[in-house]
Parts: sequence; C-alpha cells; structure tokens
Amino acid sequence: MKTVAIIAGGRSPEHEISVISARNIYNAIDANLFKIEVIGISKKGEWYYLPEKSLFETTLEIGAHTEHVPLVLMPFNKQPLRYAKDVNKAIDIDVFFPITHGVYGEDGILQGVLEYLNKPYVGPGVLGSAVGMDKDVTKQILQQNGIAVTPWYTYFKGDTINFEQLETLGYPLFVKPANMGSGVGVEKADNRAELEAAIANAFKFDIKLLIEKGIKGREVETAVMGNLQPKVTGVGEIIVNSGFYTYENKYVNNETKVVIPAENLSASTITTITQTALKAYRSLQLEGLSRVDFFYVSDSEFYLNEVNTLPGFTNISMYPKLWEASGVAYSDLITELINYAQQRFDLRQALQSTR
Ligand SMILES: Nc1ncnc2c1ncn2[C@@H]1O[C@H](COP(=O)(O)OP(=O)(O)O)[C@@H](O)[C@H]1O
Ligand SMILES: [Mg+2]
Repeated sequence: MKTVAIIAGGRSPEHEISVISARNIYNAIDANLFKIEVIGISKKGEWYYLPEKSLFETTLEIGAHTEHVPLVLMPFNKQPLRYAKDVNKAIDIDVFFPITHGVYGEDGILQGVLEYLNKPYVGPGVLGSAVGMDKDVTKQILQQNGIAVTPWYTYFKGDTINFEQLETLGYPLFVKPANMGSGVGVEKADNRAELEAAIANAFKFDIKLLIEKGIKGREVETAVMGNLQPKVTGVGEIIVNSGFYTYENKYVNNETKVVIPAENLSASTITTITQTALKAYRSLQLEGLSRVDFFYVSDSEFYLNEVNTLPGFTNISMYPKLWEASGVAYSDLITELINYAQQRFDLRQALQSTR
C-alpha cells in the first residue's frame, strides 16, 4: 500500500482555499488503496506534519496549531521528511499530492523542491508548472501554436505605460498580475482613471502584468488529465451573477454557479474546445492534470484564457465535477492522478542520465 502525502496551504493568498481542497481530497481518497498523510506549508513557507484531526479544526492556517509538527527536508534521502526536533524521526512517503494553489505552490517552485526530494508528485513538473502559472508566457506559447488568446500587452514594473496604445484595444480592459490566481489582483477598467488604478493595484502582486481586451463571452472550462497521452472531459460553464469572476464572487459571495455540461453548445463546438485544450496541454508541457479555461463568444470566436495546473478541489470546484460528469468518481480521480504521478516519475527514472 502506497503512502500519499497531501501538501496543503502554502505562501500564496490561496492558502485557505488549498486547505479546503486538501480536506476534500483527504475525505475522498480511497483508503483501501492508499495510506494518507498531510503535510502543511505555512504562509511563511515552513513545513509541518499534520496529524489527521488538525486538518479539520476551525482555522484554516497551517502552522497555527500546537499539533502541527515542524519538519525539515533531507533532499534525496529515502525518507526526506524529518521531524525538526528529532531528525531521526521520519515520515514515510511514496507520492506527494500538492494541492497548493498559486505562487510558490503551483508555479514550479514547490515542484522543484519535490524533484529534490526525489519522489513522484501529482501535477506538472517544474517547466509546465512555471509556464502554466505565467499568463504572459502561456499566451505567447499558445499563440505560437495557433491557439487564439485575447489580445494583450505586457508591462514590467518601471515601464512607461503607453495608454494610447492600450486604448486601441477598447474598453473594458482587464488588468492582471502575470503570476497569480483566484482572481487576486484582477480588475476591470472602463476608463483611463480605472486603468491607472488597476495597473497600480496589479503591480502590488507581481512585477509583470497583462492588460487585455475585455471579452464579452461565456466562461467555459474543460478538464485534462494524463501524461503523454492525456484525456479530456466535456465542457462546463461558470455563470457569474454580478461583475466577473473575482476572488469574492468565487469563494465569499456565492455569486457564481457551475453548470455541467455547459448548455446550448453544439457537439462540434465541444469537440473544438476539448481538442484545443489537449493541444494547449501539450504545447504548454503540462503533465498530471490541468483545468483549461476559455472565453466562448461564438463557434468562430473563442479564446483560451488560462490553464490551472493545480485547480481547486473544493465542493464547488469545476475540475472534479467535470470528471464526475464524465464518469470518473471523485475518489477514482484521485487514484488516477496518483497513478499518473508514479508513471511520470518512472518514465523519468528510466532515462539514461550518463553517457
Ligand atoms: N479578457 C477578459 N475579458 C473578460 N473577462 C475577463 C478577462 N480576463 C479575465 N476576466 C475575468 O476575470 C476572471 C479572472 O481572470 P483570470 O485570467 O481567469 O485569472 P485568475 O487566474 O485569477 O483566475 C475571469 O474568470 C473572468 O471572469
Ligand atoms: Mg481564472
């Protein structure tokens, strides 16, 4: 029986969402197949071992409990996770299941640490994670591969902003930090003053930002899983009751509805969207899993908005629901993801590393 360690929390503003996702995975994992452990990363980046019950306490902050046991990492050791207070005491782990959203968790940084720990882990590797997290690099690669993306301009902190050029895209414009998630720092601007404010705000979160043409379309998403021969689900839709898909509307106000399958899409549209998602998955070097999000305007006009390589696994989350609708139950989905992690690890291990 394999021991799977969920990794929850992390340094991003999505720390709490990650803990909720982790609880769901904890509850759904097939206990006949896997022994489960929970590792938490605090908002500062410290690693903890979480005894089962502390995952279900009222606060969602890792490290905030006396039962959270501080850990140290021993790269390339067979048992790389050790108690900080007694390094002879180790936690046995076969596969990691990081469900850490956003920066430091989903962007290749944690994946690099896990490579150093030399264990299989769920989700894309360092490159796919980093590419998928950066909305600017994502769009450049998609464009290169003939996949439509919303017109945009990229700015780094300190650049002179060419407002006239931006305004040729027409209002509304969307301003977003290049590396964020869950709507953090994303703002819609309807005029110059709002645009200036949105840019100042987005630069609080990243040194690079995107300014995009606002699209009046439906937000449709599809789910992909696998390594070299990935598979895809049908299409779901996010319906936002007011404004757009902000962090608040997503998690706080209950202002959004998930509809699966998305209604009134022709079979050929669904095929186009799902085939585009598979092409994007390959182009962006994704592995393990990813949710692929689009703006759909018409059959001749749709844009790939972004990919989420460790998407939400909360009760309201699209990714597991899409698989459920495609006949893969939540706990089987988790099993498959773990198996793909092992498969990817084995493939890499089998490669020759010397000449
Ligand atoms: N170009 C755009 N046109 C219209 N709406 C947009 C655009 N970009 C983002 N949005 C809205 O903002 C939300 C969050 O932006 P997104 O790029 O998905 O970032 P995040 O990684 O934070 O989810 C989207 O779900 C959508 O509602
Ligand atoms: Mg999004």
